[in-house]
Amino acid sequence: MPESRVPRRRRFLVCEPRHFAVQYAINPWMHPDKPVDIDLARGQWAELIRAYRDHGHTVDTVEPVADLPDMVFAANSAFVLEGRVFGSLFHAPERRPESTAYETWFRAAGYDLSRAGSVCEGEGDLVPAGRWVLAGTGFRTTREAHHEAQEFFGVPVISLRLVDPYFYHLDTALFVLDEGYEANIAYYPEAFSPGSRKVLARLYPDAVLATRQDAMAFGLNSVSDGRHVFIAPRAKELADQLARQGYVPVPVDLSEFHKAGGGIKCCTQEIRS
Ligand code: ARG
Repeated sequence: MPESRVPRRRRFLVCEPRHFAVQYAINPWMHPDKPVDIDLARGQWAELIRAYRDHGHTVDTVEPVADLPDMVFAANSAFVLEGRVFGSLFHAPERRPESTAYETWFRAAGYDLSRAGSVCEGEGDLVPAGRWVLAGTGFRTTREAHHEAQEFFGVPVISLRLVDPYFYHLDTALFVLDEGYEANIAYYPEAFSPGSRKVLARLYPDAVLATRQDAMAFGLNSVSDGRHVFIAPRAKELADQLARQGYVPVPVDLSEFHKAGGGIKCCTQEIRS
């Protein structure tokens, strides 16, 4: 374990939850009959942004669009690597118009952009982890989109099969702790098919393994800058494990967003230049 873990400054794109709501159900967390406390949600989201800025990260915002209640989940809008943007094609028709809203932002910011030809939900399912990109499939992003991303970026993409509907996006079951050549990850093994579990065990023998309880508390929907881990406070055991490994957990509670099936990472798109 390194003496002191070194953070790397990140650039994040986020979307204010002005129109956030649970109006339809496209994952098992969503119950349109249970209302969201919008003021609480706004306050929680503001805390996340403050926490990022307090730790030296740059935060850009995209203008929210009315009638797109899930647009707050910026991670799903695209996958950005080396300054190139692979735009999303959402699985649910309700979310499809988000692509255009985000693409407008990326184009105005000067990015070269290409939209996926098959269902692809951005960083929700595509996670750069050192020498390759880990990619989830099973519920949303297709294998075809994994191949497309590999061709687009020229980086190896490793397909992993998700099997538990509560963990329908890769970023609900796994996150990257530090990125370098020897990246390490934290994940919940039971969210993956037996073969994918073996792949993860081979690639990351020293990974931090989370319990179902921590995973259900959105503990794996975390953002790490290599030192600080912005993490759901109810994922206590996982936070303790990370602290023992020299990371600094920064608890941020996004409980209102859990009602839509999202957490910290879902609200955060990383712009990698
Ligand atoms: N309600 C949204 C959906 O089901 C939540 C998206 C969460 N985002 C994520 N990156 N896991 O599409």
